Amino acid sequence: MSLWHKHAIFEKNSIVLVIGVLVVIAIGGLVEITPLFYLKSTIEKVDGVRPYTPLELAGRNIYVREGCYNCHSQMIRALRDEVERYGHYSLAAESMYDRPFQWGSKRTGPDLARIGAKYSDEWHRDHLRAPKSVVPTTVMPAYPWLEATELDFAHIEDELKVNAALGVPYSPEMIREARADVKAQATTDAPDAAALLKRYPRSQARDYDGNPARITEADALIAYLQVLGTLVDFKLYDDKANIR
Ligand code: HEC
Repeated sequence: MSLWHKHAIFEKNSIVLVIGVLVVIAIGGLVEITPLFYLKSTIEKVDGVRPYTPLELAGRNIYVREGCYNCHSQMIRALRDEVERYGHYSLAAESMYDRPFQWGSKRTGPDLARIGAKYSDEWHRDHLRAPKSVVPTTVMPAYPWLEATELDFAHIEDELKVNAALGVPYSPEMIREARADVKAQATTDAPDAAALLKRYPRSQARDYDGNPARITEADALIAYLQVLGTLVDFKLYDDKANIR
C-alpha cells in the first residue's frame, strides 16, 4: 500500500480525521504563539508604566466585582475615530500589569482606557451614586453602595503577593507597606504620601470620595479610574507623529 492510500484511514473514519485536524492546527498554533512568550519585543518597555498602587489595585478589584467590563472596554484601537474620541491608542505595555486584563469586548458605555483625569473626583462620585444626575439619558446603573461601604483591605498584602508571583514587580517593601499605602493614598493629611510617591511614581494621594473620615470602596474605585491611561506621557513619543 502506497503512502497515499494510507490517507484513506482519515477519509473513512471521522474521529481519526478530527484528531488529525486538531494535531495539525495545534502545530500551527504552537509555531505562532510560543515565540510570543520569549520575544522581548512582544511587550515593548514604555516609560512611566508602573504596577498599580494598593488602593488602585483594590479599586480594580471592585471594577471587576461589579462587572463594569460588561459595558466598558479598556482598549483604544489604532483607528482614527477611536483615537480622536478617546486619545492615543492603547499600548500593550499599558496593560502589562493587569491580571486579568480588562480590554473587554462590549461598549454599551464609552471606552475607559484613558478616563483618568478627564473628570473631577466629584463628577465620578455623583456619576457612580446616580449616573442620571450628571448624564440624564444614561443607561448606566447606579452604584450607591460604593461610597457607603468601608473598603476591606485586610488582605491587600496577599493581593500584591499573588500579583508578584505572576510577574508584577512588587518589591518586598511594597508588599510590607501595602496597608499603609492604602491609607496614605486615600487620605488628605497622610504623612506617608511622599513614601508612596517614591514607591509609585505619579500616584496621587487625596480623599477621593469626599469623606475624609472613612476609606470607602468609592475611594478605591475612583483612584483606579483616575489613574487609567495617565501613566505614559505620549508627548515624549508623539511630538512628530502628532497623533493627539
Ligand atoms: C449597563 C451598562 C453599564 C455598566 C454595567 C456600567 N456602565 Fe459606565 N457607562 C455606561 C454608559 C451607557 C455610559 C455613558 C453615559 C454616562 O456617562 O453615564 C457610561 C459612562 C461611564 C463613565 C464616563 C465615561 C466618559 O468618558 O464619559 C465612567 C467613568 C463609567 N461609566 C464607569 C463605570 C464603572 C466604574 C462601572 C462599574 C462600577 C460602570 N461604568 C458600569 C454604561 C455602563
